[in-house]
Amino acid sequence: MMMSVNPMLLELDGVSKHYGGVAAVDLCSFSVAERSITGLIGPNGSGKTTVFNLISGFSKPDAGQIRFDGKVLNGMAPGSIYRKGVSRTFQMARIFPRLTALENLMVPVRRKGLQGLIWGYKGVGEVEAAREMLHKLSASHVADELVGRLSYGQRRLVELGTLMMSHPRMVLLDEPAAGVHHSVLETLSRYILDAQGDGVTFVIVEHNLNFVMDICHHVVVLDRGRTIAEGAPDDIVDDQVVVDAYLGD
Ligand SMILES: Nc1ncnc2c1ncn2[C@@H]1O[C@H](COP(=O)(O)OP(=O)(O)OP(=O)(O)O)[C@@H](O)[C@H]1O
Ligand SMILES: [Mg+2]
Repeated sequence: MMMSVNPMLLELDGVSKHYGGVAAVDLCSFSVAERSITGLIGPNGSGKTTVFNLISGFSKPDAGQIRFDGKVLNGMAPGSIYRKGVSRTFQMARIFPRLTALENLMVPVRRKGLQGLIWGYKGVGEVEAAREMLHKLSASHVADELVGRLSYGQRRLVELGTLMMSHPRMVLLDEPAAGVHHSVLETLSRYILDAQGDGVTFVIVEHNLNFVMDICHHVVVLDRGRTIAEGAPDDIVDDQVVVDAYLGD
């Protein structure tokens, strides 16, 4: 299986983060293979979002090491980590509600390089790329709609499309399926699988276990900030330790 062939792109080694007396993340270790889709699951408050904050540089670990492509990320600023190819979404969609879907997708492209300095510049290539992205997300019909008027699920698709426009190598998705209509969920799953096929690595935090089990190759289970189990989806659902952690919550 692909897991054994692909090198580890992301490695967490004994990572901890305390807030006052609370160990939000406690000696947490796991690895993510390049070109894989890894699910990060666990009860509320088990440290999943904190792990994303630590990987993306929004907060700093107290202990342990985080490596991306063999290089230590600890202490790097969020912008530097982003430029290494690590992108993330937040638990609530972050988009520009008063721009159209197409305009939202062009924000990161326009920020890049010299062309980004010329406000309002729209190269033919970038408009085409944004339209192509909306097409892949089955959202061509909302290209010219203000994003604030879209359904929550469609907003999340636009958010993901915007993030993917900068060609990240690894994407961290925090609860992409939460509050999203069933029809949009199918688009989301298909898009993630296609992007993974094109070489993108995904780590997905999600409470919707059907969604996780359908698309993930590997699942990591957190409880009280620690990795309590990891493995293939089929092994995880049968794991008594995992069942206990969820039911005991
Ligand atoms: N900035 C912070 N200050 C204080 N405590 C925090 C902070 N961030 C997280 N925590 C605490 O750390 C623990 C882990 O929180 P985290 O948000 O990472 O959990 P989660 O697994 O993402 O939960 P959920 O599934 O509800 O989103 C919780 O006890 C939380 O209250
Ligand atoms: Mg969270």
